Amino acid sequence: MDIIVAENAGFCFGVKRALEIVAGAAQSGVRPVYTLGPLIHNPQEIARLEAQGIHPVESLAQVASGAVVLSAHGVDPGVEEEARAHGLEVIDATCPFVRRAHAHIRTLSDQGYTVVILGDPGHREVEGLAARSGRKAEIVTGKEEAERLPFCDQYGLVVQTTQRPETLREVAGALAERCRELRVFNTICEATIGRQESARQLAEQVDVMLVVGGRNSANTARLREICAATGAPTHHIETADELEPAWFQGAHRVGVTAGASTPEWIIAEVVARLRELADRAAPR
Ligand code: F3S
Repeated sequence: MDIIVAENAGFCFGVKRALEIVAGAAQSGVRPVYTLGPLIHNPQEIARLEAQGIHPVESLAQVASGAVVLSAHGVDPGVEEEARAHGLEVIDATCPFVRRAHAHIRTLSDQGYTVVILGDPGHREVEGLAARSGRKAEIVTGKEEAERLPFCDQYGLVVQTTQRPETLREVAGALAERCRELRVFNTICEATIGRQESARQLAEQVDVMLVVGGRNSANTARLREICAATGAPTHHIETADELEPAWFQGAHRVGVTAGASTPEWIIAEVVARLRELADRAAPR
């Protein structure tokens, strides 16, 4: 059984940068260090950070002193102000690509556009984006919801960085028919596009596809959708322990991809376990 790992898989630029920023804060002696929500959407990596004294909290109410890290997904600016008002040190690990989307939303709002965000409602990045519109943005998950929006003079569309380009095209098409003027900012990040394209190409060539990443990770969920859409039997796992030998019966080629918040050590464990399964299945 051949095991092929996608060309672009695992940690993206923004996640690596966020982890370096946090490691730098912990090494410089800042104590305690908290992250608002998980720094990245990977439970195993979060557990590793906790062992180093970096703790995720759900709200500022849980933090009495020390430093608060704003995750790569960004936060509501009100939260940042509140942290400073409480005398906490704020360490900003927001990905520059998310910051770019914030700036576009502010511009659109200032210019009187009704902002539409294509994204997953409730996701931290989308909450942060919506906050930049003064919470006036419409959040849609796809074409059907965009088609239900009222007719309007000016719509401005901005996208969660991890969405699919196909969905963006569909939503933009639906909005174009519901307004006189439409401005579209394609804020899907390069890392997302690269991972999605490699995953699609690999899924088309293999008998079974594995997508490795947190179940709470939006970009991992997109990779699973893309791989499954090629027709390849696709399994989403967080760790090697979830692998089931029955998935690979009769398979000659197995593809592996991983979300932007999946660390290299988890991908390596999955590949090693797959090799063990392949060795056991090989004729002696
Ligand atoms: Fe940034 Fe894109 Fe990663 S927005 S955090 S580089 S998935």
